[in-house]
Amino acid sequence: MLSLFSDTPSKWVEMVEKDIPTLLVDHAHCERKAAGTALNLMFAYPERVEMVPTLVEIVEDELEHYRAVLSILETRKILFKRIKPSSYGGRLKANVRSDEPDRLVDRLLISGLIEARSCERFKLLAQHLSDRKIAAFMGELFESEARHHTVYIQLAKGLVSEESIKDRLLALSKVEAEIIADPDGLIRIHS
Ligand SMILES: [Fe+2]
Ligand SMILES: [Fe+2]
Repeated sequence: MLSLFSDTPSKWVEMVEKDIPTLLVDHAHCERKAAGTALNLMFAYPERVEMVPTLVEIVEDELEHYRAVLSILETRKILFKRIKPSSYGGRLKANVRSDEPDRLVDRLLISGLIEARSCERFKLLAQHLSDRKIAAFMGELFESEARHHTVYIQLAKGLVSEESIKDRLLALSKVEAEIIADPDGLIRIHS
């Protein structure tokens, strides 16, 4: 359902559990960047008015998530600061083709895959974190990220044939799985 080519290795949960404050700071950045991704698509493709309602909804959801994570940070007296991002997003985005509409197709599919990985990991955290408060919070986000995954893939399907979307999504999900299999060892949502 999520189009992912691989499952997150169980050692990822063990690793991030060692530093929940850093994971939460990264999580806040992820939500902030997810809002930015949807907003950037509206800026880059103003003529694609048919995408606006979906993208606006994603921006609103992600800003709400961002505010919710910031509020957890505040409650726990964790300082929100800039941290080095994992290489995941940059490595994925390096696969965006340059000609249109392929460029837009890739941006949408990659956004969909990032949402899918977030969703898969929020579910893992909800199931396994010993900090049950954070686990419950992650469980609340799961559905929304799954919906974002679906709508990004849906938007891409409006651009080219379903067959080429299927092939491209498979190719990109394999690339995503390779990146996940070669983590850079940071405590991050996508590491
Ligand atoms: Fe989100
Ligand atoms: Fe999302």
